[in-house]
Amino acid sequence: QVEQTFVMVKPDGVRRGLIGPIISRFEQKGFELAAISLRTIDRQLAEQHYGELREKPFFGELVDYLTSGPVCAMIWRGRHAVENARAIIGRTNPVEAGPGTIRGDYGMDISGNIVHGSDSDASAAREIALFFNREAASPPVHLF
Ligand code: CMP
Repeated sequence: QVEQTFVMVKPDGVRRGLIGPIISRFEQKGFELAAISLRTIDRQLAEQHYGELREKPFFGELVDYLTSGPVCAMIWRGRHAVENARAIIGRTNPVEAGPGTIRGDYGMDISGNIVHGSDSDASAAREIALFFNREAASPPVHLF
């Protein structure tokens, strides 16, 4: 079974030139890049993506943040993809994320935490379906 997860470099990460370093970390960990898309998302997609947080007081601010510039959406494949991605991304709040994690090394505050990673296999499937078409989400032809 091919395990995969959804990862998104948020607009602050893109603006700061962190797409490259973030991709490097996933490659160095052992992940395989399966799909990648740079685009500015509309409020409807941002609201769908964070639908579970609709009642939170910071929801409007979160949607403003996510639509403030291009994001880099990616599908990464590998063993225990969701858990391994969360391990290298670090805790949601950069204040609590350890050094060596993406948020720990590059972020300062929860309102700008650089990157998103799916929190479960079900979320990964849902988020991949939202951001990518069916072909991008299907298992790859392995070339090597
Ligand atoms: P993410 O891992 O993408 O999932 C939910 C996002 O909500 C989270 O990263 C943060 O960007 C944002 N978030 C969570 N808690 C707060 C908060 N207290 N204030 C502002 N944003 C938050």
